[in-house]
Amino acid sequence: MNVDPGGSIASLLQETRVFPPPVDFARSAHVKSLADYEALWNFAKDEPEAFWAEQAKALSWDQPWSAVLDWKPPFARWFVDGKLNASYNCVDRHCLGPARNKAAIIWEGEPGERRVLRYQDLKREVERFASVLKGLGVKKGDVVAVYMPLVPELVVALLACARLGAPHTVVFGGFSGESLAGRIQDCKAKVLVTADAGYRRGKLIPLKDNADAAVAHCPSIENVIVYERVKSKVHWSPGRDHWWHELMASTPPDCPPEPLDSEHPLYILYTSGSTGKPKGILHTTGGYLLGAHLTTRWVFDLKDDDTYWCTADVGWVTGHTYLVYGPLSNGATCVMYEGAPNWPDEGRFWRIIEDYRVSILYTAPTAIRAFMKWGEQFPRRHDLSSLRLLGSVGEPINPEAWMWYHKVIGGGRCPIVDTWWQTETGSIMISPLPGATPTVPGSATRPLPGIVPEIVTKDGAPCGTNQGGFLVIKQPWPSMLRTLYGDDARYQSQYWSDIPGCYFTGDGARRDESGNYWIMGRVDDVLNVAGHRLSTMEVESALVSHPQVAEAAVVGKPDDLKGQSIAAFVTLETGAIASESLREELRSHVTREIGALARPDEIRFTEGLPKTRSGKIMRRLLRDIAAGVESSGDTSTLEDLTVLARLRTEEE
Ligand code: WTA
Repeated sequence: MNVDPGGSIASLLQETRVFPPPVDFARSAHVKSLADYEALWNFAKDEPEAFWAEQAKALSWDQPWSAVLDWKPPFARWFVDGKLNASYNCVDRHCLGPARNKAAIIWEGEPGERRVLRYQDLKREVERFASVLKGLGVKKGDVVAVYMPLVPELVVALLACARLGAPHTVVFGGFSGESLAGRIQDCKAKVLVTADAGYRRGKLIPLKDNADAAVAHCPSIENVIVYERVKSKVHWSPGRDHWWHELMASTPPDCPPEPLDSEHPLYILYTSGSTGKPKGILHTTGGYLLGAHLTTRWVFDLKDDDTYWCTADVGWVTGHTYLVYGPLSNGATCVMYEGAPNWPDEGRFWRIIEDYRVSILYTAPTAIRAFMKWGEQFPRRHDLSSLRLLGSVGEPINPEAWMWYHKVIGGGRCPIVDTWWQTETGSIMISPLPGATPTVPGSATRPLPGIVPEIVTKDGAPCGTNQGGFLVIKQPWPSMLRTLYGDDARYQSQYWSDIPGCYFTGDGARRDESGNYWIMGRVDDVLNVAGHRLSTMEVESALVSHPQVAEAAVVGKPDDLKGQSIAAFVTLETGAIASESLREELRSHVTREIGALARPDEIRFTEGLPKTRSGKIMRRLLRDIAAGVESSGDTSTLEDLTVLARLRTEEE
């Protein structure tokens, strides 16, 4: 993608294959035709409050709201004065009838263990763990940090927090102790829930060791609860550390759900923005839960007898919304798999689908591209006939991967929902409805009812058909972020200042003549590596914190498998010697500071970086150099043109 100085974005992709919803699928879908979708969308656009009030009846409320929306841009309050509890909505209410014996979570560990938690089992565990947290002094409003492998206890911990009104903040198990500490310090969490270790591709991830290193710099943490996952040896701080199973055995089991204000914080989730410091995205209870509930029902066309599998980790927003709050509030049966897709071999996902008769699969383009590379022989060995719907999320899906997913995994019969959304939006914003929307490989198609996007130029003027521009959202929606935790000013400047009156997504997009949206990737300094969001500046500050590094610039480079890989341009302190061992050391340094997901794929040592006269690094030029293409853009503002020539000759 190219952003020219006028703010319009050149788009080169043309795709003309169209797949209408299969007739049988449409007949029994929640939304059955394009006309039904359009009627809903128009109603929601014209009368948003009436539309959302109608939809909100799908949740169980302890107290009705007095107003649907209080909108003082950019601050929204949804379902004002309404009270509800997310854990009640996800668990207790299903236990009032026969669904109490339905499987809520079907879990498989990486080494192969299997567990099934019925809704009433989940309720018992959630209640007991809420009681445990209460016993440790956790009160409504206290923040609980969670750093765990993908085990059912992770879901239990989240719902127990929600039961008490203690906002949770989950930190992905692949992040380092440093990253964990930074997040805990920002939200001042009181309790940390972790595990002794986790499995990944047969190896152990030392979660407790990382947690110990983090907590040493986190005075707010009073207690650490440790779930015993692998029975590995861990250091123990008596008084501070507690075993999960011991607390669960010694605590009274009752803990009724607390009726919470609709705007009570449900969670904080840190994500990368275009500056170095991760942003604490704040989601609240009523609006978020409604977005999660409704989009799961509509986009995945969820039915009572579906077996639903979202392969995301709960460390990311996709896991929060589509592994926990969305499917459980709908009373769905969810498959949860702890480990890697290629362990013990590349057929693991397909065996899981066959064994549990999975009917809905939601995964990421980076995974699909890896499956393509491993080859068709792995899925071909398994019976995938139970699948009826496929989903994709996290980055644009290239048409080739879309077609492979459609043919090889979906057997040509399953609609594909390419779902565009963000940590900030809380739930899916642009996506086909599988019984209604004709799909086109590579396009997320249309906005969901209640969502009003537009594509605009830098000055906010609407773009024409097929003209690339900035994707913005024009009306508030219930599951939108409420602010950045503790930083209203940054919330306002980050999302609501670039284009007046609109939420700015940070993505570029175009809309074609059929009204389909094509997401073209980030227009800011955010990388999307294997569907994981990272800011170039986070990686840069990690590099610069190394004593031998003077300056660093990090850019994304196109990558067949991961979408983008990380290329770093590094200038060294005087006296430091560029060498292969220093390169390796810098890679490990970034892994230690942020986590393996931020490890640069390529490091180039250089004597200087191209800068504008005002001192801004010209990343656009570096992106071209990293990608090995000629720079076509404007270089008139470049301070020292010789830097560019030297960088090119320094290319390996
Ligand atoms: C990108 C993940 C194209 C986009 C849910 C967005 C996508 C960022 C898609 C958010 C998609 C996500 N097509 N791009 N279907 N889904 N993205 O916060 O750039 O981890 O802004 O949320 O991922 O990433 P986040």
